[in-house]
Amino acid sequence: MTATIGIISSGRGENLRYILLAERDGYLPAQVKIVLADQPDAGALRIAQEFGVRHMYLDPAGRSREEYDQQLVSHLEGAGVDLVVLTGYMRILSPRFVRHYKNRILNIHPALLPSFRGLDAFSQALEHGVMWTGTTIHLVDEDVDHGPIIYQMPVPVKRNDTHESLKARIQRAEYRAYPRAIKMFIEGNPEVVGRKIVFENGAK
Ligand code: GAR
Repeated sequence: MTATIGIISSGRGENLRYILLAERDGYLPAQVKIVLADQPDAGALRIAQEFGVRHMYLDPAGRSREEYDQQLVSHLEGAGVDLVVLTGYMRILSPRFVRHYKNRILNIHPALLPSFRGLDAFSQALEHGVMWTGTTIHLVDEDVDHGPIIYQMPVPVKRNDTHESLKARIQRAEYRAYPRAIKMFIEGNPEVVGRKIVFENGAK
């Protein structure tokens, strides 16, 4: 089974690069059909161009969240997307968008959820003095950084870590974790049971 993916991003797009590399290598049974960004200078748009993937900047100015999300939906639908993958998308999706793609939106967060939801998970981890943090790939529901967990990868916090050194270690883990999680999700015939995801093939 091959999935058709639409990416939404606000940022550098490094996770997108590793997803596209995994697709190109035949590791990921998926095709990224479109990349949408809410920032004109998002690195994700440049990376999409590098890989020859259709991409588009959608300006949020002067539109309500619902109107903006409706525009996202029409581009995703137009590209025949069945799985939405967020890579550093910093806007909260409207409940209507989430319902439209119910259990078909994946997000990556740079912490081991349910710890350190929200902004700057790196500072939160350092402030709490935790020994382990990491990255989580989860389904998006109507709460921020909250939906059922697909996959996590732990990362140690070192004694002399700075915000930058911890962020770099977590992001390196993300580049391995996201393609793995997407593959598990596509191949595992997942079912959401309460707060959990259960995979038919016992992947998790
Ligand atoms: C990633 O570290 C991701 O975990 C984070 O944004 C970065 C995007 O990097 N996402 C969030 O903080 C969302 N809550 P990228 O643009 O290079 O893929």
